Amino acid sequence: MDAFGAPRRHYRVTDSTNERARELTAAGAPGGTIVTATEQTAGRGRRGRRWSAPPGKALLLSAILSPLLVEHALLPLAVPLAVCDAVESLAPLECRVKWPNDVWCQERKLAGVLIEAQPPEWAVIGIGLNLSVEPDEFPNDLRQPATSVGHGVSTEGALAAVCTHLSKWVGAPRERVVDAFQARDALRGREVSWSAAGGEEGQGSGVAEGIDERGNLAVVTAEGERLSLGSGEVTLTVGRNRAE
Ligand code: BTN
Repeated sequence: MDAFGAPRRHYRVTDSTNERARELTAAGAPGGTIVTATEQTAGRGRRGRRWSAPPGKALLLSAILSPLLVEHALLPLAVPLAVCDAVESLAPLECRVKWPNDVWCQERKLAGVLIEAQPPEWAVIGIGLNLSVEPDEFPNDLRQPATSVGHGVSTEGALAAVCTHLSKWVGAPRERVVDAFQARDALRGREVSWSAAGGEEGQGSGVAEGIDERGNLAVVTAEGERLSLGSGEVTLTVGRNRAE
């Protein structure tokens, strides 16, 4: 089991906790080290997007995993599972995961995960979890609606729970991660459309049919073709549930 939570470096303000954690890994910080901040001025999201949150109203966490081994192959799926367990241990909420690693609650994004890695040396696991952000405090240009945990959950309480569950999930066996992901899969049975990342050719749409053992998303197109999407390759837009 990889234990996360110590040593800890906390910043009142920093540009990005992922950036600070990367510096710490370069300086030889051990696996398990965490970086937190009350406020980020240049929080990073996936695909070069920004991540912003009002000061003190979200958990802003970067955890160092080192070394990064083959057994961590499903890390991008294991991390949101840890966040789901942590949230559900703190508040009467039900979380789901929008592949590959957004945490959703009632169709709204509660948390995002950004993993930056240099295999086999390290991975920096960045987690942004909205705790008490008011609806009118979210940026207007979000691609999908967002929400917060609420219920009086503090950043320190959320941090302790996330570290506990991260420590359990990061080295979990592949089958356990796949099974738990399937149980929390927000996309199964829904129409999704995708476009290749980085402007390469390739786009399409289909119905999501769960993940395979490599963590890829299976989709079936209108023509009945079964495809496997890799998380690094596509940007997803989610449509209606087929049953709706
Ligand atoms: C996403 O949904 O696009 C991922 C968002 C990840 C945000 C967190 S906040 C803490 C850590 N530091 C960063 O700069 N980004 C991650």
